[in-house]
Amino acid sequence: SDLHDFLHGLPKCEHHVHLEGCMSPELIFELAQRNGIELPAATNPAYASIAALSARYEHFTSLDDFLSFYFQGMDVLCNQADFADLAWWYFQKAHADGVHHAEVFFDPQVHQDRGIPYETIVAGFSEGCKRAERELGISTRLILCFVRHLPVDSAQKVYERFLASGHFEAGVVHGLGWSSTEVGPPKDMYRAQYTDAKTKGIPLTAHAGEEGDPSHISVALELGAQRIDHGIRLIEDPELMKRIAKEGILLTVCPLSNVRLRCVKKVEEVPIRRFLEAGIKFSINSDDPAYFGGYILDNYCAVQDAHKLSVLEWRIIAENSVQESWIPNERKAELL
Ligand code: HPA
Ligand code: ZN
Repeated sequence: SDLHDFLHGLPKCEHHVHLEGCMSPELIFELAQRNGIELPAATNPAYASIAALSARYEHFTSLDDFLSFYFQGMDVLCNQADFADLAWWYFQKAHADGVHHAEVFFDPQVHQDRGIPYETIVAGFSEGCKRAERELGISTRLILCFVRHLPVDSAQKVYERFLASGHFEAGVVHGLGWSSTEVGPPKDMYRAQYTDAKTKGIPLTAHAGEEGDPSHISVALELGAQRIDHGIRLIEDPELMKRIAKEGILLTVCPLSNVRLRCVKKVEEVPIRRFLEAGIKFSINSDDPAYFGGYILDNYCAVQDAHKLSVLEWRIIAENSVQESWIPNERKAELL
């Protein structure tokens, strides 16, 4: 229907997808069986069956309600092959949706805290990335995400492993982000890690302005974030909005996520037109597609159905997505 074929063919970059957010209920049950892990069906009826779990995903009440399922779901990832298979599954889906470049998040703290070595996690996800580059021609970036619901010590431990691994210099892990519970923990809880990473020239992003007010965005920028994940509550601070437009900071917007997590009632309320009119750069992304009912093309189509953008406006969105990707100019030229 209306522009959907055009949107399918439009070369896309994805900047905001959590690999652990690509674990479908089917995959959770399959890996639980493969790895001999018991799902908590006794205490949570949602884990009674694949169908019950899928149905529960349609009724998240908040970010934290979703996160409880998200962190439970990733518990079944154990071996390098599990991580590699998960990443490969995502890249195949992204490729089918017309993604040419993907920057993907992963949450090593959670896996490390349940005894999976940092090296196993990165080796698996990185294997999936390399396969996507080789077999699908997708360029990839792996972004290590700190999670705000765990103590800062746990993030520091992962950060030290990351530095010691040489993965940044080797081009295996390309940047850092933060995510999970937004409202509650100190806004600047990763000040030490971000300040240090900035001196090392490591690209930084941060989830901010999803459930939290715009001061979360200001603090993220103060700590060195070059990009803001979500950022939809930016419209509540006109001065900050001007600054973000002027500095060309990219927002990685995730419309279907915002609806499922009740940040907005419907995609019409995601401030797509406000951002376009203010000259704010943004990309459209899937966040946790297995939990939110859609991969990237579903998000593009939902935005089109709600906001009726022109082909010219879509070209602006697509071009900004390429320009603000963390890739060399030669790769940008190929994508434009
Ligand atoms: N917000 C915060 N943390 C997350 C999200 C999100 O949308 N997805 C996965 N972790
Ligand atoms: Zn996210």
